[in-house]
Amino acid sequence: MCCTLSVSLIDLFPTFVLLFDPAAVCKPGFYRSALQTQSCSKCPPRSYTRTEASTSCQCEAGYYRTESDPTNMACTKPPSAPRNAISNVNETSVFLEWAAPEETGGRKDLSYSILCRKVSGGGGSGSGGGDGEGRHYQPCGSHVRYLPQRSGLRNTSVMVADLLAHTNYTFEVEAVNGVSQLLAPLRHFVVLNVTTNQAGE
Ligand SMILES: *[C@@H]1O[C@H](CO)[C@@H](O)[C@H](O)[C@H]1NC(C)=O
Ligand SMILES: *[C@@H]1O[C@H](CO)[C@@H](O)[C@H](O)[C@H]1NC(C)=O
Ligand SMILES: *[C@@H]1O[C@H](CO)[C@@H](O)[C@H](O)[C@H]1NC(C)=O
Ligand SMILES: *[C@@H]1O[C@H](CO)[C@@H](O)[C@H](O)[C@H]1NC(C)=O
Repeated sequence: MCCTLSVSLIDLFPTFVLLFDPAAVCKPGFYRSALQTQSCSKCPPRSYTRTEASTSCQCEAGYYRTESDPTNMACTKPPSAPRNAISNVNETSVFLEWAAPEETGGRKDLSYSILCRKVSGGGGSGSGGGDGEGRHYQPCGSHVRYLPQRSGLRNTSVMVADLLAHTNYTFEVEAVNGVSQLLAPLRHFVVLNVTTNQAGE
């Protein structure tokens, strides 16, 4: 009696394993994450698996996933540069405005940041160094104000105030999103050259 029961349990065990086997394989193109044990899911857009039994999908070339992106989210890419940037100088303030990039990268965390540099030289004086035409670039410094802020801008405009009078500046307006820092050396920005006027003029 005891032995019959024992044999039937052993007989049943493979069936149990087959129905609920957590290692049952997902086909290529599908994955099953550790948390999601019910069934295999199709890889989200811009991702793939080439092997069976994958627990996550690889991003296609040129697409990325941050550590906090869920495995069921499409892979995304950095935005392209902002477009149609314009500047409007008023004395020692400059209003910068631009249009959203053509390629937003498929993410909702698009923002903009401003890099301001003061340009000296370049008027044909041939002072040497810089970019080979006598220009020198320096950070604009902490006296310059950015309204509402310098980075993490959600709007497509910014006011830069408290610049120096009669000075050449170059502004880079960069578009960034959650995967931009994964390609840190590759920045997507638009350049604006600005010359300030006299304060109070
Ligand atoms: C320029 O700035 C001055 C002082 O901040 C202000 O009074 C004036 O209205 C501004 N001009 C324009 C065209 O915005
Ligand atoms: C600003 O740049 C222009 C050339 O783009 C140059 O002619 C001019 O001298 C520069 N002004 C200053 C103050 O450096
Ligand atoms: C964004 O722009 C809109 C319209 O130009 C303005 O009403 C809003 O206050 C701006 N938001 C920020 C955070 O600057
Ligand atoms: C801005 O000025 C730099 C030289 O300082 C020049 O090489 C560049 O073409 C200018 N860019 C624009 C958009 O005017």
